[in-house]
Amino acid sequence: MSAGWMLLKKFVASPSTIGSVMPSSRFLVRTMMSGIDWSRTQRIAELGAGTGVITDAIDARRHPGSRFLCFERDPMMRRDLARRYPGVDVQDDAFTLCGRLAEVGVTSLDCVVSGLPFANFTLSCQRRLLDDIHQCLAPGGMFMAFQYTRQIQPYLVSVYSGLDSQLVWANIPPAFVFICRKPTTPGQGSPD
Ligand SMILES: C[S@@+](CC[C@H](N)C(=O)[O-])C[C@H]1O[C@@H](n2cnc3c(N)ncnc32)[C@H](O)[C@@H]1O
Repeated sequence: MSAGWMLLKKFVASPSTIGSVMPSSRFLVRTMMSGIDWSRTQRIAELGAGTGVITDAIDARRHPGSRFLCFERDPMMRRDLARRYPGVDVQDDAFTLCGRLAEVGVTSLDCVVSGLPFANFTLSCQRRLLDDIHQCLAPGGMFMAFQYTRQIQPYLVSVYSGLDSQLVWANIPPAFVFICRKPTTPGQGSPD
C-alpha cells in the first residue's frame, strides 16, 4: 500500500488521532528541514512520524553516529518505520517522551520535530506535551512543528527565545511551520 493510501485509510478510521488526510508535501518537509542546524544536532526526536516522509528526510541528513528517536502511536505505521529505518529508535506514544529518553540514556535533545495534531488534543494534553518537549530540549535546542492552525503559537512565544513561523501553501491542507529555539540562558522565557 502506498504511503498516501495508508494515511488516508488511517484518517478515515480515526481522523482526530491521525490529523491529516495526506502525508506532508516535499515543500513542507523542505521547510521543516531548513530550520535545523545539522552541524549541532546529535540527538533528535520526531513526534508523529506517520508514514515517514519527515523521518526519511531526517535520516538522510543526520550525522552518522547521531541518536534519532521517532514516535508514532499507530502500530502498523510504527512497524513499517522500524522495518524501513533499522538505525532509528522507533517508539510509540509521544506523551511518554521524557520517560523513554531516560530509559534509552539520552539526557537531552538538540532538536524535536513534530507532525503531531496538537489542535486535536485537549488543552491540558497540549500543554503537558509542550512542557515536556521544552523540558527535554537542551539549552539552545530547536523545536520544529507543523500545524494547520496557530493555536499553539502563544505558548511557543512565551517559552522560546526565537520563533519564526512560515505558511507553506503547497501542502494539503496549507500548514504553518513553527521554528523555535530554547533560550541558552535561563530566564529568557519559561513556562508559567
Ligand atoms: C498529521 S500526521 C503527520 C504524519 C507525518 N509526520 C507527515 O508529516 O506526513 C500525525 C501523526 O501523528 C500520529 N500521532 C497522533 N498522536 C500521537 C501520539 N500521542 N504519539 C505518537 N504519534 C501520534 C498519528 O498517528 C499520525 O501518524
